[in-house]
Amino acid sequence: MRLVLAALLIAAPAFASEQEVPLKDGSGSELMAQHCAACHSADYVRTNAPFMSAEVWKAEVTKMRVAYGAPIDDADAQKILAYLVAAYGAK
Ligand code: HEC
Repeated sequence: MRLVLAALLIAAPAFASEQEVPLKDGSGSELMAQHCAACHSADYVRTNAPFMSAEVWKAEVTKMRVAYGAPIDDADAQKILAYLVAAYGAK
């Protein structure tokens, strides 16, 4: 059973563009959907989640804002970051 699950998890990213999986619930999820799916699919967040510690998510949000010009103010960025770490942070 474990093995089957692992195989499914490995195969999942290949289907990411074909089916939208709902985002995990949590305060900040709407802000995230609103601000982080403007340029690319919110699937980017899910696909990268296994590797993302709190620091890496922080750097990622900063990169989206600074390097790619995502229009997200400090207050919203804080809430989005808290949500990302809680719902999609690496253990
Ligand atoms: C202004 C456009 C824009 C917005 C808004 C934006 N991104 Fe991105 N994002 C990009 C671009 C450009 C890339 C890299 C190119 C690609 O792979 O499509 C990217 C890539 C990513 C990746 C893949 C890893 C990487 O660094 O390449 C993740 C994860 C990600 N974004 C998360 C987010 C999150 C979380 C938010 C909201 C805080 C966000 N993005 C908002 C433009 C944006």
